[in-house]
Amino acid sequence: MAGFGGDDGEFTLDGDDGDSLGGSDGTAVRGDRFSGGPARGFLSSLAADERIFAADVAVDRAHVVMLAEQDVIEDDIAAEILTALNVVEVEGHAALPAGEDVHEAIETAVVEQVGPDGGKMHTARSRNDEVATCIRYRLREDLLDAATAVCDLRAVLFEAAEAHAETTMPGFTHLQHAQPTTVGHYLLSYESALARDTERLLDAFERVNRSPLGAAAFAGTPFDVDRERTAELLGFDEVITNATDAVAARDFLVESAAALAALATTLSGLAEDVVLFANQGYLELSDDYSSTSSIMPQKKNPDTFELVRSVAGDASGSLTGLLTTLKGLPRAYNRDLQNATPHVWATVDAVTEATEVAAGGVATATWNEETLAAEAGSNFSTATGVADLLAMAGLPFRTAHEVVATAGELASAAGTEPDYAIIDEATEQTLGESIAAYVEREAVETALDPAASVTMRDSAGGPAPDAVADALNEAERSLTSDRAVVEGIAEGIAAAHDELTAEVTDHV
Ligand code: ARG
Repeated sequence: MAGFGGDDGEFTLDGDDGDSLGGSDGTAVRGDRFSGGPARGFLSSLAADERIFAADVAVDRAHVVMLAEQDVIEDDIAAEILTALNVVEVEGHAALPAGEDVHEAIETAVVEQVGPDGGKMHTARSRNDEVATCIRYRLREDLLDAATAVCDLRAVLFEAAEAHAETTMPGFTHLQHAQPTTVGHYLLSYESALARDTERLLDAFERVNRSPLGAAAFAGTPFDVDRERTAELLGFDEVITNATDAVAARDFLVESAAALAALATTLSGLAEDVVLFANQGYLELSDDYSSTSSIMPQKKNPDTFELVRSVAGDASGSLTGLLTTLKGLPRAYNRDLQNATPHVWATVDAVTEATEVAAGGVATATWNEETLAAEAGSNFSTATGVADLLAMAGLPFRTAHEVVATAGELASAAGTEPDYAIIDEATEQTLGESIAAYVEREAVETALDPAASVTMRDSAGGPAPDAVADALNEAERSLTSDRAVVEGIAEGIAAAHDELTAEVTDHV
């Protein structure tokens, strides 16, 4: 890459190396070289870096406190730099001077206030370890917000499931009526999927919460830095030891984006069901979560859930974009990495918002119990229960299946729903004897009742009220424990923040 607007002298591949301070047109970091030209806007991440402005101020503070503690820089200069950083923080990202990115712009702002000694802030580090630290620092907060939104949605599903533990509804496979279930059991199926989504987010968090700071460009530094100390001041659980790995690694972005894409995929299934259920009159969305047509005045459309459904497409596109950007990058740092990060910001924002909207939409929806009950047994959806009954009486399940299939055929030929007489006739046709040889009439009639059919299926994780009561207890236990984990992490980060603030106050 040629030096934009500069002379033809030697230049390094990495703009970080060898720049001198005090350029007239350029920034304090860049001087006159590399300070302008047609590619300036293309190179710059300053606007997108607003996202990591607060993170960069924190990272600068921790680094400067550590440099002073290690006697790498003088206490009075550290104090001046920390005071300048306080001003930078108050004035905000919008007030930053020009710069290729937020790291450079903040450094320029510090040098403008402190003079050349402000440049000591960048001793023993590079933007490479700096940016990786800032992204991790900020992403932690975003992942915790996403996990909290998922827990809130789980709470909404839990409450609706508890209220509708015995509300019978049709269950589907291949979008065909399959077996009766309950709204409670159905909703808990999403609650448990979202419990795994929570696990994935928290698992990704663990590997996000490691500090690359102190790795410098990729090859360490001769200064006596204390990497554990900066990690502690920034609330990271541990240090990423290998300096090259520390600056090059972006698999933490991949894991976060993948966890979010999986979450979005869960949401998209829920959203699809809600759209279908609204279409069938199984539930009614609140007006707040619906839209209408600009021409057809009678319309009430489930637009919010359609948009929730669509977010999975964006999330999986971002994950693919991210992986494709990272694929085949050589060690150690390449500017491609600058374009990797925004995929994750866009994804975490969209998926968290979709999670919140889904929670609001489900919380305010009304389940139409009458329609659900009326539909629960349609299309002979109790057939499996009748076959189970025959199998319990000793018939091989395959034979029982054949008997009930015959009953289904006889009923549809007669244009009616199967009843005891039809099932009896089917048993005669298939086995040459009455069904009374196997089960009592009352038991068959009970099995044909959708609510009774649900109650029969009381195996672990089934829809029978007792099994659902157990599932509700388990859901509550795991939700309470996940919330405690999220709160514990947030408290740890807040404590580190307080420690850093106290150290800054001590030094200025
Ligand atoms: N804005 C850059 C990024 O996001 C910061 C690191 C720049 N490092 C460099 N060697 N040019 O990756």
